[in-house]
Amino acid sequence: MLIELDEVTKIYNQDQVNEVVALDSVNLQVESNSMVCLRGASGSGKSTLLSIIGCVFQPTSGRVAIAGKQLSRLPDRFMTLHRRRNIGFIFQKFNILPALNVRDNITLPLIPLGIPPAQMREKAEKLMERFSITHRQNFPAGQISGGELQRVAIARALINDPPLILADEPTAHLDSRLSEEFMSMMAALKSAGKTIIITSHDPLVTKHSSIGRIIDIKDGRIHVS
Ligand SMILES: Nc1ncnc2c1ncn2[C@@H]1O[C@H](COP(=O)(O)OP(=O)(O)O)[C@@H](O)[C@H]1O
Ligand SMILES: [Mg+2]
Repeated sequence: MLIELDEVTKIYNQDQVNEVVALDSVNLQVESNSMVCLRGASGSGKSTLLSIIGCVFQPTSGRVAIAGKQLSRLPDRFMTLHRRRNIGFIFQKFNILPALNVRDNITLPLIPLGIPPAQMREKAEKLMERFSITHRQNFPAGQISGGELQRVAIARALINDPPLILADEPTAHLDSRLSEEFMSMMAALKSAGKTIIITSHDPLVTKHSSIGRIIDIKDGRIHVS
């Protein structure tokens, strides 16, 4: 899924004393079926950029096109629809609901899409098997290990088979073995045709052989290497 950003600027609290220019005229292209890493210090604008690509919110100015379609021209409800259908999010701390069991956490993104329950179960079962978490399906997500939780988060991001996967500092809370495992899974998904953007400053990610390109971001400006 080709992603094109043209002069994208994001200003939080515009014209207020606490105004922050989080992104400053970002121009960027991410090719379809590529795996790139967005690298930058804390506060550099990584999550903001990922949220804009992920249609969580609109930029203050500039244009975003995904697969040739201009997002800024879409009404909010189409943005939401586009996000639910095409994007898999693996966000910081995974956003898993701890009281909900593993299976229901994984099928959560399918609910607004109106997928029949039997089909939801079938999709969840396939993914739980693939990521070896079937034996934990009835456990509350708050009661499983970090590595299992990570696999649940990935399964949930993949449940609607999205062409675009966005991972925000996915290894920040993982040890090196789990981080390696995470990157192997991402490499396999890239081989399967997905487009993947990972934000990180973890060398285990930035130096991984499957990363095609590193995009450096500093104070809301990008430097493509
Ligand atoms: N909701 C928000 N309201 C105001 N400022 C924000 C908000 N989110 C992020 N920021 C600010 O925008 C800048 C970029 O933040 P962020 O995109 O989260 O960076 P990173 O993910 O690289 O740490 C930081 O200065 C941060 O404090
Ligand atoms: Mg962040």
